[in-house]
Amino acid sequence: MHPHIIHEKETLFELGTIENNIIHYDFDKVVAYLNYKGRLTFGKNFKIYEDDMFLLYKLCLYFIRDYKNCEKYGLDPHKGILLSGPVGCGKTSWMKLLKNITPSTNSYQVVPSRYVTFQFNGKGYPIIELYGSTNSYCFDDIGVEPDGKHFGQDCNVMGEVLLSRYDLFLQNKKLTFATTNLNAEEIDERYGSRVRSRMRELFNLVAFDKNCKDKRL
Ligand SMILES: Nc1ncnc2c1ncn2[C@@H]1O[C@H](COP(=O)(O)OP(=O)(O)OP(=O)(O)O)[C@@H](O)[C@H]1O
Ligand SMILES: [Mg+2]
Repeated sequence: MHPHIIHEKETLFELGTIENNIIHYDFDKVVAYLNYKGRLTFGKNFKIYEDDMFLLYKLCLYFIRDYKNCEKYGLDPHKGILLSGPVGCGKTSWMKLLKNITPSTNSYQVVPSRYVTFQFNGKGYPIIELYGSTNSYCFDDIGVEPDGKHFGQDCNVMGEVLLSRYDLFLQNKKLTFATTNLNAEEIDERYGSRVRSRMRELFNLVAFDKNCKDKRL
């Protein structure tokens, strides 16, 4: 088992070295891999911005489970990540990319929150159970999805899913990830204080700078 070695097409990426069963990741090599994978996934305009480097460094510490340095930066590896930041700064792209550096330990699926609501509108409460009781997910763009409505019954779908995810987290430590444009106050407004309070326990809050520029062309 060499989880630090990743095969992409014909290229082999060795993200660090292994010694006595402990992987020592090399951040420069991780960045080189993410650059490659980013271009492969999002196209040739993808690049790693110098301004994002520190944020990326912290996220990498989290994903590789570097406990010592996580503590230094106030990250708890036992919680998930809520990545917040302005429109277009790269939240969704990073959450899709970063799981690739540790495919065996961070296998979450990125699901748009809007999609969860739309599924609920068609199928009702089993959808809350589906996303609330198993696996790890990254709910993309939480807080701006419409409210759900199934057979005339209104439901704050993502609010309910997050409440279920919190119970799941307490029961068997399943992680939840999410991205959002909203700040803490706006989240509170959207989901209420019960959800907001649980989110604090469910997630490490990691934020792009509010002045981070839109990367959309
Ligand atoms: N590092 C990057 N280099 C080049 N392009 C990028 C980079 N990161 C993201 N992009 C591009 O910028 C656009 C916005 O990225 P992304 O969707 O990840 O942002 P976001 O923060 O999730 O935005 P939103 O708040 O609207 O959901 C996409 O077209 C993406 O391909
Ligand atoms: Mg997004």
